[in-house]
Amino acid sequence: MTLRAPVKRRRVKLAPSLLSADFADIADQIRMVESGGADELHLDSMDGVFVPNLTWGMKIVKDLRKLTPLPFDCHLMIVEPERYVDAFREAGADVISFHYEATPHAHRLLRHLRSIGAKAGIAINPGTPAAMLAELAEEIDRVVVMSVNPGFGGQSFIERAIAKVTEVRALLKKRNPACEIEIDGGIGFENIERAVKAGADVLVAGNSVFGSDDPAETLREMRRRIDATPPAP
Ligand code: DX5
Ligand code: ZN
Repeated sequence: MTLRAPVKRRRVKLAPSLLSADFADIADQIRMVESGGADELHLDSMDGVFVPNLTWGMKIVKDLRKLTPLPFDCHLMIVEPERYVDAFREAGADVISFHYEATPHAHRLLRHLRSIGAKAGIAINPGTPAAMLAELAEEIDRVVVMSVNPGFGGQSFIERAIAKVTEVRALLKKRNPACEIEIDGGIGFENIERAVKAGADVLVAGNSVFGSDDPAETLREMRRRIDATPPAP
């Protein structure tokens, strides 16, 4: 009798986005998603210039840091991200993702992020082709494929993002297989299985988690569905 070794798969991470949380009750909201098994917290910083909305900066990240040991996945939707990344790191960011479209010096900034001990993330808008990442592949720890145009929670999912995850995965396969692929925007029960099958390692979910009656149970159900989904080959 031959025993087959269990198939090793990367744990797909669930990262609830605090953009849709109630900040009047943020400690409780964080406890809720912790109890639902969140792997990270996704924190969206917006500057009203790169995107038509404003959220928060380093001060809030620093204060939230006291509330939870969960890794902070900081998504910077800001122009000139190089001016602020050190401060975000000091405030407690673990992953820092800036936008490819927001700087002419993506290569330099990715290297800098690693040098300050952050995971180096780069996000691409729906209008940016995956191929743009080719020259950067070795420098990236996480690619964030935007499945909505950044700026707001609760928008509908752009289907094309699934194919883009597949393209990013193919691009990274030889050059940097350890790099994670995150998908961000409009993620919910209708598309998590497809995102995982395409090769997403991190699923960001705002409205579908915090807008549900029981965010902890929503996360547990998402986890069950992820675990029942075969990953990308
Ligand atoms: C959009 C943000 C997303 C957003 C996702 O600009 O980057 O992280 O919070 O929220 P949902 O899941 O509601 O689309
Ligand atoms: Zn985001």
